[in-house]
Amino acid sequence: MGALKIILGVILAVVALLKLYIKSITRMCKSQVCLEGKIAVVTGANTGIGYETALDFAKRGAKVILACRNKSKAEEARRKIIQETQNEKIFVRIVDMASFDSVRKFAKEMEETEDHIDILVNNAGAYALEKKRTVDGHPLLMQVNYFSSFLLTNLVLDLLKKSTAGRIVNVSSMAGKRADQFDINKIDEFAPNNSDYAFTKLCNILFTIELAKKLRGTKVTTYSLHPGFIETDIFNNITGLRKLLFIIIIKLFSITCEEGAQTNIYCSVAKGIEKYNGEHFSCCERVEPYKTASDPELPQKLWEKTEKLVFKHKNPF
Ligand SMILES: NC(=O)c1ccc[n+]([C@@H]2O[C@H](COP(=O)([O-])OP(=O)(O)OC[C@H]3O[C@@H](n4cnc5c(N)ncnc54)[C@H](OP(=O)(O)O)[C@@H]3O)[C@@H](O)[C@H]2O)c1
Ligand SMILES: *[C@@H]1O[C@H](CO)[C@@H](O)[C@H](O)[C@H]1NC(C)=O
Ligand SMILES: *[C@@H]1O[C@H](CO)[C@@H](O)[C@H](O)[C@H]1NC(C)=O
Ligand SMILES: *[C@@H]1O[C@H](CO)[C@@H](O)[C@H](O)[C@H]1NC(C)=O
Ligand SMILES: *[C@@H]1O[C@H](CO)[C@@H](O)[C@H](O)[C@H]1NC(C)=O
Repeated sequence: MGALKIILGVILAVVALLKLYIKSITRMCKSQVCLEGKIAVVTGANTGIGYETALDFAKRGAKVILACRNKSKAEEARRKIIQETQNEKIFVRIVDMASFDSVRKFAKEMEETEDHIDILVNNAGAYALEKKRTVDGHPLLMQVNYFSSFLLTNLVLDLLKKSTAGRIVNVSSMAGKRADQFDINKIDEFAPNNSDYAFTKLCNILFTIELAKKLRGTKVTTYSLHPGFIETDIFNNITGLRKLLFIIIIKLFSITCEEGAQTNIYCSVAKGIEKYNGEHFSCCERVEPYKTASDPELPQKLWEKTEKLVFKHKNPF
């Protein structure tokens, strides 16, 4: 009996220490930058870290566009943000990242209603989706996590260039590190070995690198990031034994949504990071590129391949 208590005590102490350790390495964005007069677009802003990012921008006085697929969820988020910040300049626009038509419609609305965009956070994403193809014929997860952000970013790029210092922030993931079987010729196919998510997130990173190159000489800069490990809806779809494992890992290692939004916020507002255009961030600081993203030719190849798939040979530039 005594031994059991000791074992239990040790486990609890280890968990408590682990939590303390994770808290101690979690960094908050300390920037005081005011966003009065700025226009920020956050995709997937109704929940998770997207919501916390939008909330922070609202507190800083920005006009915030919540780009979401579900009107009622988005309106509820808008109501909560206005209530908490007293900032009335919060608007809902519908975009479903599983459909290029929806993305095009969204971009057109942006062009009609906004004269510029200062911050675009490509945050919408999923973790585990059915292995099926979209109406546009692409693997669902790849389209939601990558192709549609590629399209959206390119379609609103002119609006971003009209900003005095536009920023594009791509929410990627450390999972991109695990994409060592990534094959550029197979981005329009379902990935083997449960690597779908890792592949989509590596694409986010590579894309950011190439966009940064294309943006040289403009006032727009772009960053990709790993937000941390956060308990959000994104893991809801995991099933079976993996679910149990995930629950344990999440309970032990995850940080809050507010903490998870900090690197989004940092890359969107922090001053002086423009010299890191195209690079990858984690815990509110620049990190070394992952091995999977270090082939210097891959970003351009991926860009060209994606452009063909997404624009069907129409060059957006
Ligand atoms: N949580 C983590 O530990 C973690 C780690 C690394 C990276 N990330 C990345 O962080 C980003 C945000 O994730 P989260 O953890 O905050 O997840 P979340 O709470 O599930 O939020 C994801 C957001 O994306 C939206 N979304 C999903 N599919 C969409 C579609 N087809 N069209 C438009 N919007 C869509 C969701 O809308 P609905 O509410 O309508 O579903 C939701 O607003 C993702 O890019 C994810 O890859 C998360
Ligand atoms: C939007 O979300 C609400 C609440 O979760 C849900 O009841 C509704 O079916 C969703 N609508 C669509 C179009 O997916
Ligand atoms: C879970 O999977 C279903 C079916 O593929 C999808 O409609 C839903 O958006 C997924 N939920 C999340 C949180 O990814
Ligand atoms: C992120 O990176 C590039 C440029 O930064 C952009 O065109 C792309 O659509 C963005 N989104 C994702 C999710 O990769
Ligand atoms: C799946 O993973 C195994 C073990 O890592 C590897 O040998 C195999 O080549 C992978 N399959 C594909 C299709 O990449």
